[in-house]
Amino acid sequence: MDVVVLPTAADVAAHAADVVAERIAAEPATVLGVATGSSPVGIYRELARRRREEGLDLSRLECFALDEYTGLAREDPHSYAAYLQREVADPFGLPSARVHVPDGTREDRERAAQEYEQSIAAAGGIDLQILGIGTNGHIGFNEPLSSLSSRTRVLALSAQTRSDNARFFDAPDDVPTHCLTQGLGTILEARQLLLVAQGERKAEAVAAAVEGPVAARCPASVLQFHRRTTLVLDEAAASRLTLGEYERPGRRA
Ligand code: F6R
Repeated sequence: MDVVVLPTAADVAAHAADVVAERIAAEPATVLGVATGSSPVGIYRELARRRREEGLDLSRLECFALDEYTGLAREDPHSYAAYLQREVADPFGLPSARVHVPDGTREDRERAAQEYEQSIAAAGGIDLQILGIGTNGHIGFNEPLSSLSSRTRVLALSAQTRSDNARFFDAPDDVPTHCLTQGLGTILEARQLLLVAQGERKAEAVAAAVEGPVAARCPASVLQFHRRTTLVLDEAAASRLTLGEYERPGRRA
């Protein structure tokens, strides 16, 4: 894994946006996997700024969400479909049909999961997948003990994830209990992975993912199997790493 450590969360967003912009420069019709939650927001806003102010062309992107809650209507502002409309489709100037999200409202959720896998395959697979990491080491909503080769499926959210995500809802009980999420095997098929993490509360999960054994207790550790993974961290998120001399661009010796 390439691990890049930067002083602040703003530096993380700018550096990660550079990685995405490089990919888009090489292939304007990039298939981009988009995480939700707070971690990638700075990347999306920086890309949108570059589009507005520097003419970065985002018009040919095709985007795929990592996950979605079940039982929330697309229009519900807490749904990831609504998040991606606000943070990606609108500011990138993309029609909603080009931002795919698993359909968490379908009665047959397993079928919805299979169809989502098929739609990723039909787009030619994901070129660059943006990821965040949960405090328990999840990526997507693949909670600890997920199969390391899992596919898109319905999962129950752990108590820790529901409590971590309660900040986005009016009341803790409003956090849905289940989700549809790309599996770890699905994520590993993306041609390039870019994980961003900011803040001390992610430090333990980051250390387990980067320096721990590959193990289902820390799903993000499966990224060690991927040949093209970059982690962009702020100093706080990197604070429990102990093994390596990680890359710290711009730091004076
Ligand atoms: C969201 C997702 C999750 C989040 C993780 C971190 O699509 O897949 O893995 O990336 O829960 O959430 P934040 O960024 O809100 O701390």
